[in-house]
Amino acid sequence: MAVILGIESSCDETSASICIDGEIKSNIIAGQAIHAKYGGVVPELASRAHQLHIIPTVDAAIQQAKIHKNDIDAVAFTRGPGLLGSLLVGTSFAKSFALARQIPLIEVNHMQAHILAHFIEEPKPNFPFLCLTVSGGHTQIVLVKDYFEMEVLGQTLDDAAGEAFDKTAKILNLPYPGGPLIDKYAQTGNPNAYKLPEPQIPELNFSFSGLKTAILYMVQAEEKKNPNFLMENIADVCASVQQRIVSILLNKLKRAAEQTGVRDMAIAGGVSANSGLRRALLEMGKQYRWNVFIPKFEYCTDNAAMIAIAGYHKYLRQEFVNQDIAPLARMHM
Ligand code: KG4
Ligand code: ZN
Repeated sequence: MAVILGIESSCDETSASICIDGEIKSNIIAGQAIHAKYGGVVPELASRAHQLHIIPTVDAAIQQAKIHKNDIDAVAFTRGPGLLGSLLVGTSFAKSFALARQIPLIEVNHMQAHILAHFIEEPKPNFPFLCLTVSGGHTQIVLVKDYFEMEVLGQTLDDAAGEAFDKTAKILNLPYPGGPLIDKYAQTGNPNAYKLPEPQIPELNFSFSGLKTAILYMVQAEEKKNPNFLMENIADVCASVQQRIVSILLNKLKRAAEQTGVRDMAIAGGVSANSGLRRALLEMGKQYRWNVFIPKFEYCTDNAAMIAIAGYHKYLRQEFVNQDIAPLARMHM
């Protein structure tokens, strides 16, 4: 039997999870409301909040899994990419825990873990598959050849898709994080109300900064005509923005499918919680006869279950690290 404790602390969520023989038994997530009033994550505040949350979060994960800390066979932690101060808290906790209990330590790449969240529950994709990994910090099309063999085929040249949602939300006077709110307002809006540009970016890469500027100019022009423009048209604006971000993402995924011949398609990361993206991918899947894999909502945004499942597969391979390991703000796949 293998009991893995997973720890995630890369951004503003402190999370701990217990995985027993590949099955997630608990996944506790402590958010940090403090950032909302600043309109974005403040790194120093995030790191301090992680310090407050880490021990109660791990305790809760152990209790909910109905195990004792002595039962844990290995500790897996997010090494990067992420905010260095935040990563340091999870890394230091994991190292201390492993040292004190004399158990192995496993490093996990946060972006790989978002993809490996697909192996928490059935149906699990078969290798190779394509994964559109879209979060607050990343936007990538990844060819997943095996659990830890991943090739980035394309990525964003500027903002990430989650950033595009969040920065647009700021323009629309919506609080941080704006992605889920744009999603909510979009449900009742007309996605064709406003024409927004689709950038022509070569190959499988993305760009969202032009879209952000186009939205800003559009809102400014409309507000000159009607100062209540945003209040009166928020649903239509959100629906139009969301439709454009989704079409930018899925048109590139379609191109990646044509280039690679791969027909198993997955999405991962915080933006994969977006209902417009989920719906459009399912429709595209039907049209092109793809097998589509969409994670459960709780495994889309940052969580430790994905770290624990990645850790479990490294445990099976006996891929451990030493106490001299340090977190990395930037970390390649
Ligand atoms: O993966 P994640 O939790 O953290 C990072 O690793 O970045 O992703 C967070 C991002 C934020 O930009 C947030 O606005 C976005 O995911 N997000 C959404 C939705 N839920 C979260 N974007 C659009 N629609 C959603 N429903
Ligand atoms: Zn993430």
